[in-house]
Amino acid sequence: MRIDRFLSNLPRFNRKQVRLLLVERRVVVDGVTVSDPHHEVRVFSQVRVDDEVLQTGKPARYFMLHKPQGCVSATSDPQHPTVLDLLDEPDKDELHIAGRLDFNTTGLMIITNDGQWSRRLTQPQTKLPKVYWVETEQGIGPEYALAFRAGLYFAFEDLTTQPAELQLLGPTTARLSIIEGRYHQVKRMFGHFNNKVIGLHRERMGPLMLDTALAPGEYRALTDEEIRQV
Ligand code: URA
Repeated sequence: MRIDRFLSNLPRFNRKQVRLLLVERRVVVDGVTVSDPHHEVRVFSQVRVDDEVLQTGKPARYFMLHKPQGCVSATSDPQHPTVLDLLDEPDKDELHIAGRLDFNTTGLMIITNDGQWSRRLTQPQTKLPKVYWVETEQGIGPEYALAFRAGLYFAFEDLTTQPAELQLLGPTTARLSIIEGRYHQVKRMFGHFNNKVIGLHRERMGPLMLDTALAPGEYRALTDEEIRQV
């Protein structure tokens, strides 16, 4: 939210007073004096006017989890364990999942309370590749890579998928890099060839690689460097 809107939403300041506070350079966001009314304030920002703290700012939190099979990518589920059940962290209701995985898909799952950051990771516009190791029931033919690169028509959404890269690893295994995360996207892409996906594991999301030291079900906080890379 813009700083002028943030301040004028408080009952104590009207718009004119907000303009004055900014002009008089009395507003400090994260330790820096702010006079631009468009300056963005986030829930993680500390906001002060003179020496009074108006918003303490929440710590941003970022985790990578090795999702095991048999758990749901949701914050709650009436039947099955969820990925959030695997986290031993406070205030879990503030966290969300950046890019869901199916019940039996394993691999890299990012969980955070920073929506602006997670959107950069998942939005197709940023073109960050999501890389999957795939195992299929039938052999994977050379025509797959061409079709995936050209894009496949998904009638339900009435769209053509963005170009995807397929690297064959064996007769029924491959590495697939996609830049979107449509519903069941990988399974539907192979489904185009009537080939069932029997194993699916996410290895990477943009610059973030699943830490091989994490066993299924384990997680760790992202490093500052990993957070900065997104
Ligand atoms: N595509 C799928 O079909 N399933 C997943 O879990 C992830 C991508």
